[in-house]
Amino acid sequence: SSRPRASTRMVATPDKVGTGVKRNENFAKLKAGYLFPGIAKRRNAYLEANPDCRPIISLGIGDTTQPIPPHILSGLVGGAKTLGTKEGYTGYGAEQGKADIREKISEKLYNGLIKPDEVFVSDGAKCDIGRLQMMFGSGVVSAVQDPSYPVYVDTSVMVGQTGEVNEETMQYDNIVYMPCKPSNDFFPDLKALPHADVIYFCSPNNPTGAVATREQLEALVAHANAKGSIVVFDAAYAPFIRTPGVPKSIFEIEGSRTCCIEVNSFSKYAGFTGARLGWTVIPNEVKFSDGTPVRNDFNRVMTTAFNGASNIVQSGGMTCLDDEGMAEIDTLMDYYLENAKILKEGIESCGFKSHGGKDAPYVYVDLEGKASWDVFSEILEKAQVVTIPGAGFGPGGEGFLRLSAFAPRESCVEAVERLRAVLA
Ligand code: MLT
Repeated sequence: SSRPRASTRMVATPDKVGTGVKRNENFAKLKAGYLFPGIAKRRNAYLEANPDCRPIISLGIGDTTQPIPPHILSGLVGGAKTLGTKEGYTGYGAEQGKADIREKISEKLYNGLIKPDEVFVSDGAKCDIGRLQMMFGSGVVSAVQDPSYPVYVDTSVMVGQTGEVNEETMQYDNIVYMPCKPSNDFFPDLKALPHADVIYFCSPNNPTGAVATREQLEALVAHANAKGSIVVFDAAYAPFIRTPGVPKSIFEIEGSRTCCIEVNSFSKYAGFTGARLGWTVIPNEVKFSDGTPVRNDFNRVMTTAFNGASNIVQSGGMTCLDDEGMAEIDTLMDYYLENAKILKEGIESCGFKSHGGKDAPYVYVDLEGKASWDVFSEILEKAQVVTIPGAGFGPGGEGFLRLSAFAPRESCVEAVERLRAVLA
């Protein structure tokens, strides 16, 4: 017949190593895989080579270990059960989150400083950072604290904002690195900075555990307003703040409504690292240079590339924000803060100086010039404890080591004993 037929002939392509699709060149710029899977790989390689070693203790990735408390859990369970009823069943929800949780976040966590329609509920802060980058696109210059949570830099590279990495400085071209060290109280010299469009700032900080004061945040907001920059404030560790007067949100700072976005998450608050629930706040006054509200474009991203956070988990978010849930969160935070204290005192008893660990779940250990990947390996091999080398958070983290307080209490206590045995 003359009907066209699919060809069954195999085309010989001896020289081809893949499809004809060109690789996104930005991905080739990334120096290594994402930090935390890289750490897990080293741990697994060690385990494979030493199958009979004592159990490894992880003070590595900041992943919660304590069970979700009962009242908060009742929200998750209730949310799931509702789906099994004719009256309660819901399918797709609003991409921005349910009205009730947006209202409750605005009221309970922001004291009404922001409006419910400025809250976008999502599957987490990390995912929102990726979506903010999709919105900002390749034409902006980003600034990051150095060291910083690797997501800010890696996503800037992925969307094409940067050049290649400079092999000498280990910094990407076209990213502004804001040095944060003990010598500057972990707060950058804003006057000395080259211009950046988007400034990523995390407090309490990952990885240094530094907590910005009100005065520092006022300076940051004033700088952004004066320079026409947007601050993306990462407040994922806010509930660890116990010191009175230290701001838990950038929206406590005057002037922030015209220049700040805040990303946040229930991950660390309530042990939702697996359940997944976060939010991003964009005040209506934050605008691009052509006058378009940033909120509108983020809404476009959320409605197009996101389908709303899980209705089950949003129900868990509602119980988090009840008074009983908030009390349960406080108890969880106290538990991890006590761990941080144990780790901090423990590492200091080995003769090291450390930072953070107060109002923050990370202890940042000064290695006094030693290479952080070397110390990471030494501690893994001799103490069977996983840590995170500071260099994994950017060149400014070299010479430091991060300890996470999210391990169970008994693991923190044992880790200190092991570290004392090999380091003291
Ligand atoms: C960390 O260890 O830095 C955190 O787990 C990162 C995250 O929250 O994604």
